[in-house]
Amino acid sequence: MLKLENVSKSYDNGKTNAVDGISLEVNAGEIFGFLGPNGAGKTTTIKMIVGLLKADSGSIRINGINNSVDPIKAKMQMSYVPDNPEVFEKLKGIEYLNFMADVYSVSKEDRTQAMERYLDLFDMKKAVNDPISSYSHGMRQKIVLTGALLHDPQVFILDEPLVGLDPKSAFNLKEVMRERCDQGKCVFFSTHVLEVAEKICDRVAIIDNGKIIAQGTMEELKGDVNSHESLENIFLELTER
Ligand SMILES: Nc1ncnc2c1ncn2[C@@H]1O[C@H](COP(=O)(O)OP(=O)(O)O)[C@@H](O)[C@H]1O
Ligand SMILES: [Mg+2]
Repeated sequence: MLKLENVSKSYDNGKTNAVDGISLEVNAGEIFGFLGPNGAGKTTTIKMIVGLLKADSGSIRINGINNSVDPIKAKMQMSYVPDNPEVFEKLKGIEYLNFMADVYSVSKEDRTQAMERYLDLFDMKKAVNDPISSYSHGMRQKIVLTGALLHDPQVFILDEPLVGLDPKSAFNLKEVMRERCDQGKCVFFSTHVLEVAEKICDRVAIIDNGKIIAQGTMEELKGDVNSHESLENIFLELTER
């Protein structure tokens, strides 16, 4: 459902090789964790997938659609929750949600149903009528999450989604991720919180210095480094090599 082939990106006229020839594939029904230390290239990769940055080379397909050939169609297949929830502060929560639903042509009936569900789940029913400028960081994150779920994306892409969420919302988000995969959709998210990745991901890739240094199920990764028990050990061992 999401396929990257040999994708590269450098900054500063080639001085910083942020992402260096990475390939990966996320299948229907999978939660895929994209792990790596700070500065590894996770956000750069995600921004290329969602079309905020243009890859220097390689190809990115979302649900079979090449995002540089048919960007709008590619965008209709997915939703993106950035690491920094910078939203239109002047809007009320509900206005932002209706804007997002309009962008993705979600019917009145479907948006009402989805808003009802996710606002309740993220405990945002009251706050939705207040201006976003009055929201805390976590509330902004939750309104962005809700907005991203309204059009029921096939491919759900999140950059460090669990940072800043309260425990209940984090738990609920993980449930939503799993539920989407059970419906045959997929989730791709970056994190450096390894315990979370270990618990909820079907497969992971570890990126370091712009290169993928390991990829597979938890069992496969353990095989790679001669059966350390925790993902933390695997991660530390691989990123220190
Ligand atoms: N806009 C930018 N201009 C120049 N260098 C950047 C820019 N954004 C990121 N980088 C560099 O690219 C590398 C990867 O960054 P990033 O993708 O943000 O990593 P991560 O999300 O894994 O922490 C880092 O070396 C970072 O300093
Ligand atoms: Mg990042």
